[in-house]
Amino acid sequence: MSEDYHREELKIALDPSHPAHILPPPLPCSRRVLDIGCGAGQTLIAAYPDRVSFGLDVDLDALKLGRSFSDRVCFVCGKAESLPWPNEQFDMVIARVSLCHTDISASLKEIHRVLSKGGELWITLVPFSYSWRKAKSSNYRGRIFFAYIALNSICFHFTQKQFPFLGRYESFQTERGISQALVKNGFEGISISRGKHFLVTARSR
Ligand SMILES: C[S@@+](CC[C@H](N)C(=O)[O-])C[C@H]1O[C@@H](n2cnc3c(N)ncnc32)[C@H](O)[C@@H]1O
Repeated sequence: MSEDYHREELKIALDPSHPAHILPPPLPCSRRVLDIGCGAGQTLIAAYPDRVSFGLDVDLDALKLGRSFSDRVCFVCGKAESLPWPNEQFDMVIARVSLCHTDISASLKEIHRVLSKGGELWITLVPFSYSWRKAKSSNYRGRIFFAYIALNSICFHFTQKQFPFLGRYESFQTERGISQALVKNGFEGISISRGKHFLVTARSR
């Protein structure tokens, strides 16, 4: 993602009137929060300016940009599928439109490991319509990539397993696929909302 993307997303996170605005719920200051695929930390900066929070991303440039936005976020370069923290370190894990770029079951397994028992998960996902809109406006390479996304997403829907293409993962999600993946990876109290955003919350068992 480009620097412009992250700057724009920070504006969106700070502007409650923007149609794409969505933030996780407020939490007591004592609760430790981790953002997976945090980009430049925009969601943490807007939602939890009252504490030191943690953000993880594979994109070092995004993290460096984030450092110029805030010194209250501890930015860590790493992968959602292999989190560099010991067990039960966090009370809340959030992921805004980032799990769709990862092996979701592997990421959920890791998220469950680093969450305390009863810890909360807040994620936004990507529906079929979003990927389809992107594919329709892209060139032939984008359409070939969409064929991979579609197959990978169907695979996730039925088996909760995914496969990479040219070293990366991407998918859209279904309610069935994500619910089953959450249950298999130790979550309960699953709630799914399909309004303006595909929002999923759950609790670590
Ligand atoms: C669409 S952006 C979302 C960024 C931010 N959460 C937001 O709401 O603007 C997806 C982010 O996921 C990151 N990402 C992709 N694959 C990842 C992985 N395996 N582990 C951690 N982060 C990943 C990307 O680098 C990118 O910053």
